[in-house]
Parts: sequence; C-alpha cells; structure tokens
Amino acid sequence: MEALPLNLLQVQDGLSTRRLAAKFHYFKELDSTNSYAWRLADKGAPEGEVVISEYQANGRGRLGRSWVSPPYLNLYFSVILRPNLAPTDAPQLTLMTAVALADTIGAFVPKPALIKWPNDILLEDKKVAGVLAESSCSSTRIEFVILGIGINVNFARESMPDSIRQRATSLLDAAGHAIGREDLLRRLIQDLDRCYGILEEDGFSPIAARWKSRFGLQGHRVRVNMIDQSFSGEAIGIDRDGALLVKTNDGTVARVIAGDVVPGED
Ligand code: BTN
Repeated sequence: MEALPLNLLQVQDGLSTRRLAAKFHYFKELDSTNSYAWRLADKGAPEGEVVISEYQANGRGRLGRSWVSPPYLNLYFSVILRPNLAPTDAPQLTLMTAVALADTIGAFVPKPALIKWPNDILLEDKKVAGVLAESSCSSTRIEFVILGIGINVNFARESMPDSIRQRATSLLDAAGHAIGREDLLRRLIQDLDRCYGILEEDGFSPIAARWKSRFGLQGHRVRVNMIDQSFSGEAIGIDRDGALLVKTNDGTVARVIAGDVVPGED
C-alpha cells in the first residue's frame, strides 16, 4: 500500500464522542506530539484536543527511551485530558488507555491483543503499541494529562531498525495486510472516549477488571527489573494506584510502581 497522508475528514466521518476529539491539530512533522500537546494544554487548551503528526523527529517513549517514528506508516498522537481525579489516581488513566488500545487493536487482527504492565500492547509477545502519559499536577489536583499513543500500523518488521526488530511488530505483520489508519484512529478515539467515560462515571473497578482480562501475565511467574534491584514472584494483579502486585517467594506482596516486568525467573 502506498503511504498516503492521513485523511482527517475520513477519520471524523461518523465519529461520535462525548469528551474527546472536538478538535484535531494535524502536522506533517513535529518533535513529539506529547511536547506540542503539553505546550497547548499549558496555554489553556480544553480537554479532548488531539495533536497528531505523520512523523516525529524526537518521538519519546517511557523510561527515557525514544519511539521510532517513520513518516506516513503509523499513528503518533496525543490527547489532552483534564480529568476529575486526584493526582494519586493519575495512573488509572494509563491503564484505561491500555484497555481501550487493546480493544481497538484486537478488532483489527486475528490474534489476541494482550497488555504488558503497565500499558504496552503485545501481539504474540511483540510490542505493537505504547502509551506515554505525562501529567501536570498541583498538590491537590491534576491540571492536565497528555496521553501520548504510538502504534506500529503499516511498519513492516523487515524495515524496522535492528534496535527494535526482535521485540516489535506491527498491525500489518499481524493481520497479513495493510490497515487503513483512518479506520483505526476513528475506532481508537471512540474506544478511548468510551473507556474514559466509564472511568469518570463508574470508577476504576470496571476498568481494572478489563485490564486484568487482557493482562497476559496474570497468575504467571515474572521477573521484575527495577533500577536498583530485581526479584521474581507471581503476578497477581494491580491495585487502584496502578501498581503491579507481585507475590514474592517469601509470601509477601510487593507493589511495583516502575520498572520492567518480564515472564520467567532469574
Ligand atoms: C512507550 O511504550 O515507551 C511509550 C511510547 C509512546 C509513543 C507515543 S508516539 C505519540 C506520543 N508522542 C511521543 O513523543 N510519544 C508518544
């Protein structure tokens, strides 16, 4: 399939949302959609505005990593949220996003879309999408959250750089055919809007239940690698702060709030 610019009119055609995507800011190139959306939100942009770019010169991932962002093949976008949540509950938004993302991706490929804590989306153990959530908070409230989403859509594994090829995949590779980015983005915005509505109206429990059903390592032995230590245990779920709960070998339950969680032992 020829790599064409995203047709925003086609994305908006039939899009029906309550909170998100009243306005799109579309670019051919940005440093990072998260950085641009942060600047907009800082100047007072309302909830729901979407910043999307065909290419990112400095796409950012979690834990200071970069996000490989070739032009016209994938989706790179950020949504401004102004949630009615306490700052300590901000991680619920990233888990909510992972649920929406997995639902959407699962609708486009014949393989199960699973979540790797906290919010990577995996197809057959390879990463197809990730979420970078950045928050501006006062001591008592969240001012805004920038939800940044990157999805490998029509990015063939054979053309990925060596740095990611072993660990990454794309919808193209999983489905066996190219995916229309407009249909994918429309569906994802609908799913995000729906899941965000559930979180705001019914609280975190229904989202946590859906997150757990997509969590590929629930009940499995895992290895947790943090900056200064690592340990093994059984992944037993998440708590309402979004921490991963791991039952260690001595029977205590550890809360993991940052780090990498991989299947297996030492
Ligand atoms: C991760 O899994 O490490 C998170 C990746 C998030 C990448 C997206 S692409 C759109 C938005 N802008 C960025 O610079 N990063 C996020």
